[in-house]
Amino acid sequence: MNIILIGFMGSGKTVVGQLLAKELGLDFLDTDELIEKSEGRKISEIFRVEGEEHFRDLETEVLKTLQDYDNFVLSTGGGMVLRQANVDIFKTIGPVILLWAAPETIFARVQKETHRPLLQVADPLAEIKKRLELRLPFYNAAADWQVDTGQKDPGTIAKEIIIWLRSK
Ligand code: S3P
Repeated sequence: MNIILIGFMGSGKTVVGQLLAKELGLDFLDTDELIEKSEGRKISEIFRVEGEEHFRDLETEVLKTLQDYDNFVLSTGGGMVLRQANVDIFKTIGPVILLWAAPETIFARVQKETHRPLLQVADPLAEIKKRLELRLPFYNAAADWQVDTGQKDPGTIAKEIIIWLRSK
């Protein structure tokens, strides 16, 4: 079994995904980490040197390699749903779960972090609102199920996901 977590930056994909993987005895994979490993450099450097479109190509490449594997929880980069090709591949891998949070919650979670190039701007909250609004229809269309992560701790969210998986 595989599980795919989608959602905006700071929606909790990594921490929830790690807990979920542990609970279910699955491996935890993260597309950003896989890209950094295969490229031998940081996401921020890829954005700076080659730009966002090149990074998006790398995301699709790494996703294709995962079609040959099984038994993992995959945390995906927040922008992956923007390409229909990625969503089509998700559907061949496993159920897609959207972790959702309001822009203010996301801002509170990410404001002290510096590794996300898209949020290194003068007004990160406005940037989050703008990108989230644009992406929301893509997230909703790609998701088989969704969970609001706003007021819940990661353990509770992981349990809710497991209950949903068992009810299918
Ligand atoms: C991005 C999200 C990041 C990373 C890159 C671009 C995005 O991943 O892929 O900085 O476009 O939302 P996380 O969602 O894991 O932070």
